[in-house]
Amino acid sequence: MKRILVTGGAGFIGSNFINYILENRDDVEIINVDKLTYAGNLENLKPSEDKSNYHFVRGDICNHELIDYLFSKYKINSVINFAAESHVDRSILGSEIFYQTNVIGTNVLLEAAKRFEVERFLQISTDEVYGSLGATGRFTEHTPLSPNSPYSSSKAAADMMAMAFHHTYGLPVVITRCSNNYGPLQFPEKLIPLMIINAMHDKKLPVYGDGMNVRDWIYVIDHNRAVEAVFEKGKIGGVYNIGADQEMPNIEIVKLILNSLGKSESLIEYVKDRPGHDRRYAIDSSKIETELDWKPKYKFDEAIVKTIEWYKTNKNWWEKIISGEYQKYYEKQYGK
Ligand code: NAD
Ligand code: TYD
Repeated sequence: MKRILVTGGAGFIGSNFINYILENRDDVEIINVDKLTYAGNLENLKPSEDKSNYHFVRGDICNHELIDYLFSKYKINSVINFAAESHVDRSILGSEIFYQTNVIGTNVLLEAAKRFEVERFLQISTDEVYGSLGATGRFTEHTPLSPNSPYSSSKAAADMMAMAFHHTYGLPVVITRCSNNYGPLQFPEKLIPLMIINAMHDKKLPVYGDGMNVRDWIYVIDHNRAVEAVFEKGKIGGVYNIGADQEMPNIEIVKLILNSLGKSESLIEYVKDRPGHDRRYAIDSSKIETELDWKPKYKFDEAIVKTIEWYKTNKNWWEKIISGEYQKYYEKQYGK
C-alpha cells in the first residue's frame, strides 16, 4: 500500500489530483496536509472526503514537529509536494511567504522524508523556473534555470534543494515541471477563472501590457495523469517537463472567453504591465511522452469550453470564495 503525504491538496491542482486518484484507485492511502491559506478550499474535496483511504490534516508544511508526527502516525512512504504560494502577482507584492512556504517548507519535507526513508519524493515544480523565451524555442529538461519572479525563484530554489538531497543523501527524488494549468476549481485570481468571472459580471477584463505574452496551456487532468505517471514510473533523480503543446497569447484567450459567453470585447481593458513579466513559455514534453508513454488527452478548444461551462454552473463555489465565506468558516473551525 502506498501511503502518500500529499501537501497542498486543498488547492487547485492538488484537489483535482486527489479526487482523480481516489476515483480511479484503491491501492493508495492519501494524507492531505494543507494550511488552508486563501487558496485552499475543502469544498474542492467533496468527492473524496468520505473515503476511508483519505485523511485531511490542517497544517503548515513549515511545521517540522507536525510533519514528523504525520510521517510516523500514518507510516508515510512517499510524498507529493503540491503545497506552495502559487501566484506571481502576489509574490511581487510580498515575497517573504513565498520563500517561507516554497523553500523552507520544502526543506522541512525533505528532511522528514530522509529521516523516514521514503520510497519516493515527488516535487511539483513549474516551467517558470526556466525563465522567459523569445519568439522561438521550447524549454527542455536541459534548459538552465533562470527564474525571474520571486515565485519562480522560490520554486527553482526548491528544485535545486530537492536534487541536492538526491545527490547527497540518495533521497529518491523526482521533479515535474508543468506549464500553465486550467480547469475546474482554480482560484479566481489566475487568468482564466478571473476573466470568466469578470465577464459574467460585465466587469472589465484587465489585460497586462500588450496582451501578447504567451503561455502554454494544459488541462489540469492531463497534468495530474502525468503526475501519476512520474510518481509510478519516473526515473529517480529525473526531471520531467509536462505540457500539452497549446501555446496561446493572453489576448486570444480573453477574446475566446468573451465570445463564448456572448460578451462584448469592449470589456477588455489594457492595464499596466506586470513588473518583470515573462514573455513566453513553451514546453517540450517529448521526454515524458517517450519514456513514460504519457500524452495529453484534452485539446484546448474543447477543454476551455468545458472549463467555462464549469464556472457557469458552479457559481456557488466561486461566489463563496469571492465573499470570503469559506475562509471565515475555516477560521472559526480551525482558528487563524
Ligand atoms: P494553489 O495556490 O491553488 O494551491 C496551493 C495549496 O497549498 C493551497 O491549498 C494552500 O492552502 C496550500 N498551502 C500553501 N501554503 C502552505 C503551507 N505552508 N503548508 C501547507 N499547505 C500550504 O496552487 P496550484 O495552482 O494548485 O499549484 C499547486 C502546485 O503546482 C504548486 O507547487 C505550483 O507551483 C505548481 N504549479 C502550478 C501551475 C499552475 O498553472 N497553477 C503550473 C505548474 C506548476
Ligand atoms: P497567471 O494566470 O497569473 O499565471 P502565470 O503568471 O503563472 O503565467 O497569468 C497568466 C498570464 O496572464 C500572464 O502572462 C499574466 C496574464 N494576466 C493578465 O494579463 N491579467 C490578469 O489579470 C492576470 C491575473 C494575468
